[in-house]
Amino acid sequence: MPRLSSATDLERFRQEILARRDPNKPCVTICSGTGCHAYGSEKVSQAFTKEIQRNGLQEKVDIRRTGCHGFCERGTIVVIFPEEICYLRVKPDDVSAIVSTTLVENKMVDRLLYEDGNGQKIVHEGEIPFYKHQSRVVFGENRLIDPKSIDDYIALGGYNALAKALFEMTPEQVLEEVKKANLRGRGGGGFPTGRKWETTRNAPGEIKYVIVNADEGDPGAYMDRSLLEGNPLSVLEGLIIGAYAIGSHQGFVYVRQEYPLAVENLNVALKQARDYGLLGQNILGSGFDFDVEVHRGAGAFVSGESSALMTAIEGRVGEPRPKYIRTAVSGIWERPSNLNNVETWATVPLIINKGAEWFTSIGTEGSKGTKIFSLVGKVNNTGLVEVPMGMTLREIIFDIGGGIPQGKKFKAVQTGGPSGGVIPEKFLDLPIDFDELTKAGSMMGSGGMIVMDEDTCMVDIARYFLNFLAEESCGKCIPCREGIYQMLKILNRICEGKGEEGDIELLKEISEVVRDASLCALGQTAPNPVLSTIKYFRDEYESHIEEKRCPALACKALISYYIEPEKCQACLICLRNCPVEAITGGKNIIHVINQDKCTKCGTCLEVCPPRFGAVTTLSGVKVPEPVLVGTEVIRKRGEGK
Ligand SMILES: Cc1cc2nc3c(=O)[nH]c(=O)nc-3n(C[C@H](O)[C@H](O)[C@H](O)COP(=O)(O)O)c2cc1C
Ligand code: FES
Repeated sequence: MPRLSSATDLERFRQEILARRDPNKPCVTICSGTGCHAYGSEKVSQAFTKEIQRNGLQEKVDIRRTGCHGFCERGTIVVIFPEEICYLRVKPDDVSAIVSTTLVENKMVDRLLYEDGNGQKIVHEGEIPFYKHQSRVVFGENRLIDPKSIDDYIALGGYNALAKALFEMTPEQVLEEVKKANLRGRGGGGFPTGRKWETTRNAPGEIKYVIVNADEGDPGAYMDRSLLEGNPLSVLEGLIIGAYAIGSHQGFVYVRQEYPLAVENLNVALKQARDYGLLGQNILGSGFDFDVEVHRGAGAFVSGESSALMTAIEGRVGEPRPKYIRTAVSGIWERPSNLNNVETWATVPLIINKGAEWFTSIGTEGSKGTKIFSLVGKVNNTGLVEVPMGMTLREIIFDIGGGIPQGKKFKAVQTGGPSGGVIPEKFLDLPIDFDELTKAGSMMGSGGMIVMDEDTCMVDIARYFLNFLAEESCGKCIPCREGIYQMLKILNRICEGKGEEGDIELLKEISEVVRDASLCALGQTAPNPVLSTIKYFRDEYESHIEEKRCPALACKALISYYIEPEKCQACLICLRNCPVEAITGGKNIIHVINQDKCTKCGTCLEVCPPRFGAVTTLSGVKVPEPVLVGTEVIRKRGEGK
């Protein structure tokens, strides 16, 4: 193992690695991120090792287990280099076909390729629409490197930026470059990173800390996990550069408990970096000392808030405190502490390597660079997408995401995590950046993007997020603890058909108090889902309250399932599948749902054959009474009349 003690050493070592590697030698890369791991990538990987040996190809083909590629729903993802042949949904049983067909015969296994809407097969990863429209500058290396191999990272130019910072730039110059790049924090508010670094740097006190926020508590968001899991050294390199600029010698990575693979890969990365002389005392022989400690979070959303996170690192309960003095000045143990998000740190080496000018050439006036979003919900292609700031929602949802499944209508997109807001269809052409999203009543947050179709009830969505926030509120301040709870109570009753006149105004009134009087940004932003849904979908609230009707047919208390007698073929399918035996009827007798027994699970709707389409969902109207012939429900069409 080399001990790298100068920039020249690093470069020489990189050249040695590259000389050992033949870029034309086939390399089978198997995604081993959490998503693909859940699909069984471990077994796929073992199958490749076995099958390659069985075919006597071990000297001719390399195997590499990489980080997340972003298209997790199609896991396990296998890409064969140098052609970048991309196979999706690979199972261990597919491996022998891949080896014999692609590696031996140089042909494609068609059934494992991506198929576009026109039945066209796409061979190369970069040509799949999900990837084609992205700009993967921060996330791109995930698919190329084994996160447990520092050599892979170095081979791709890893630690170049650190060497440049340490040997060619003063800390002030590094700081100026980041300020010039106008990098804004990717973890929430979009605060200018350089300015925050400067505050910590200039704050009094010898001991200063730098921290990675990998708490990532937003439901549906997993970009930080995938970066930390797939390319931990890029985050670490950014952190060391930041520490150098700020004058810090101790860092922390705060990772949520639920991310075991990220912690495992991070710990491997830290050990390798220390062994190579890239972390610890006298980094790269520069005289700069810096080391990092990993702190496991306890799974509370509020612990991602800066002051709460720092309190947790101190070993106390992770609750926020009033920030009359910012954590950048007085954070962990009252020492200046600079906190940045995983993605923010991972962007830093790129800025140092390629320069602020390159970075500012991407993005919009106020938001530079790219942003990774976690695109989920009612969209055909879900996954992690990295796009330049300023790309429109339409491009993300329709070009990359492939539109809405089953030809349904797009209704809204929720951005910014639980405290974000919903954005309706009229804003589909909004170029997304920090400021535009805020203007539209939502926010960038950490990059969650939940797509909703016509079947989504907007009151129910507000209720879902408020429920999350009510559970996650630490309870320290009254406006947040009581205000969110009261808002949730109102939303619950509206969804249950017990909404009252004046509820909308009451929600708005409480929202104002919670927003203005809460201690931390959890409470301050909690009204966003309520206010934005009221702003753009007020008619849905009114329907629930005034007509006791849920237009999206989603709120259980306001809907009924009904079997249309004209369409029912008395096929017995719904009757047999109803878990509570709420359906009566017989072989030739039209089926009827007993509304008193029905639990509204929707099974009848799901199982009724589409060619009959006899089960419908009603809301705001009385369910028609069954037609009786004598004492029996009407017989099958034509027979009972
Ligand atoms: C309730 C709450 C939870 C938060 N969770 C996270 C989180 O999981 N990750 C994150 O980076 N920032 C989170 N933030 C934002 C952080 O407080 C902080 O602004 C951010 O880590 C700063 O990094 P940045 O400047 O690079 O964005 C959260 C804020 C609040 C109020
Ligand atoms: S985990 Fe494999 S693509 Fe995300």
